[in-house]
Amino acid sequence: MSSTLSTLLVENRRYEPSAEFRSQANVSDARVYGEALGDPIGFWEAWAKQLDWFEPWTTQLEWKKPFARWFVGGRLNACHNCVDRHVANGLGSKVALIGEGEPGDVRAFTYAHVKDEVSKIANALKAMGVKKGDRVCIYMPMIPELPFTMLACARIGAAHSVVFGGFSSESLYERINDAGAKVVVTADGGWRRGNVVPLKKIADEALASGCPTVTKVLVYERIGEGAEFDRGNWTEGRDLRWSETVDTASTDCPCEPMDSEDLLYILYTSGSTGKPKGIMHTTGGYLTQVYATTQWVFDLKPDDVYWCTADCGWVTGHSYIVYGPMANAATAVVYEGTPDTPDKDRFWRVIEKHKVSILYTAPTAIRTFMKWGEEYPERCDLSSLRLLGSVGEPINPEAWVWYQETIGKGRCPVVDTWWQTETGAIMITPLPGITATKPGSATQPFPGIKAVVFDESGGDVTPVQGALGFYREHAPAQGPERGGILAITDPWPSMLRGIWGDQERYQNVYWSRFDDAYFPGDGTKVDEDGYFWLLGRIDDVMLVSGHNISTMEVESALVDHPAVAEAAVIGRAHEIKGQGISAFVILRAGSAPSPSGEEAVRLAAEIKEHVAKKIGAIARPDDLFFCAELPKTRSGKIMRRLLRDVAEGRALGDTTTLADPSVVAALKEKYESSES
Ligand code: WT7
Repeated sequence: MSSTLSTLLVENRRYEPSAEFRSQANVSDARVYGEALGDPIGFWEAWAKQLDWFEPWTTQLEWKKPFARWFVGGRLNACHNCVDRHVANGLGSKVALIGEGEPGDVRAFTYAHVKDEVSKIANALKAMGVKKGDRVCIYMPMIPELPFTMLACARIGAAHSVVFGGFSSESLYERINDAGAKVVVTADGGWRRGNVVPLKKIADEALASGCPTVTKVLVYERIGEGAEFDRGNWTEGRDLRWSETVDTASTDCPCEPMDSEDLLYILYTSGSTGKPKGIMHTTGGYLTQVYATTQWVFDLKPDDVYWCTADCGWVTGHSYIVYGPMANAATAVVYEGTPDTPDKDRFWRVIEKHKVSILYTAPTAIRTFMKWGEEYPERCDLSSLRLLGSVGEPINPEAWVWYQETIGKGRCPVVDTWWQTETGAIMITPLPGITATKPGSATQPFPGIKAVVFDESGGDVTPVQGALGFYREHAPAQGPERGGILAITDPWPSMLRGIWGDQERYQNVYWSRFDDAYFPGDGTKVDEDGYFWLLGRIDDVMLVSGHNISTMEVESALVDHPAVAEAAVIGRAHEIKGQGISAFVILRAGSAPSPSGEEAVRLAAEIKEHVAKKIGAIARPDDLFFCAELPKTRSGKIMRRLLRDVAEGRALGDTTTLADPSVVAALKEKYESSES
């Protein structure tokens, strides 16, 4: 982290909101910070009142640490708020979603159309036996039917668990079983880089491993006839075709009144152990915060065309493709494929074609575009853009400035938004009509959010400072020399309600580090203006292209390969992905003691592929080193920090706690020779 930190320390550019932007912004008066700070619960309640409730709440917040209940006693339905109420309010003919497939097929759906589609899916799910409280696993490509299926679940009170279409059959299997899903909704395939991802076939493999709770599999015919690919096996009685089930269902399906605290969804994210955590989000508080943040952070207006490039397999897609924008009756673009198909200008073509005005993407994508060069965006008319967002990992100032200048032409505010699967919604972010931004800083907590920084000296937990703009005058003249640890002191509406099936782990992971605050696992620095500079994870979670992957998860996939005896994995700095995965592998005696030359290359490739097959391509190690030993402390703990130093080519840190310091020298030598 030290190199990131030093970059950040010299970063002192400031971008004030333009008078033009400010004058039209949804929020432009900085007093909102002070007001929300004075009465955070009232602040959120005012937002909640803008949603439709079937029954009002009786208590705003019940807080029994670490369990929060918001808008207790209230009843509402998320799908009603995202769809039906807009139709009822005369917005039925407004375009809700524009789906662009990778092959170039475009389909637009109005809110009225979405209501029909969602109702049909909901009726089909009901006919399959799905009831309120059941879980439905969704494993689909990024096409409009994915948000529709999520909303259909919400409509009937079933919780969805979306599994990213890039995950392997084993990851899918694990998630289906952990959630106890009754139905799996998938597609025959999805388009990616001109190829078909055979989703049904992968789902078949997962189900063949044993998913006793699954009774039906609903298959959307995305690819259809005419393409050659592996369609998996059709299991009569279990598998149902969308065209024969959904397309023939009735468009009449009432929204189930749900308790504010009823489960809306489970979404799996990696933790610092190998087992993914099923993060639970409920209805009222979640919808309130995604609704509010979409309106203020993206300055969303009725005429905007909004495009968040995330996949619905991640929380960004849940909160900022489906629930936040649709609760605001937005027009949103949903794009299926990759940014370089058929050419490296695809994103800019999408923006030009649909006149996208708000773009929300990830630093890893921005760095990729920088590498590809300016000729691609320059080919296209990007004048429709008026606001740019970033999410998923720290954005380096160079990428921030490139985004602002090359894509935003200096006209568009950039909002760097910090949040997590667990927080459900944006937590630290500029407000584009108010905040003077600094490249690389997510700036300040959203109004109503109380974030602080604790320092780590001597194991003491000491608050460094409150960091809201409101506190600016109390901030020390100089920020702490070293980064501290981010903490959130007060419950917020969209906070996770726990880990599915494991509330003890919830308590341990998030609520045991500090006495009285939520621990997100991120390092941060606060500067003299009270701005946060998020520095990445401080635990064993890597951020690869902005996605959480645990080192343990990859290590278990590695040792699952028959040739591997032991493995250590670290996230190392990576130019494009933010973090890349470096694996250090000890082979089993007898398999190939010390492979070299071609054999080493072949075996490394095979082991990497094994990880990709076990978890998904996103977890494939970028580099893999065979070594005879791993650096361990005397108590046997692998010293990942040292491995990171080796992989990032830094001078070695303190090795005095090492059982055998010579191990590191050997590793370093090996690493440096393999690099050349
Ligand atoms: C972790 C959460 C939020 C949706 C996508 C990722 C990192 C996220 C930022 C940012 C610095 C960021 C944090 C966080 N992160 N956004 N703007 N600046 N770091 O969700 O997979 O749950 O990952 O992503 O380390 O803890 P996630």
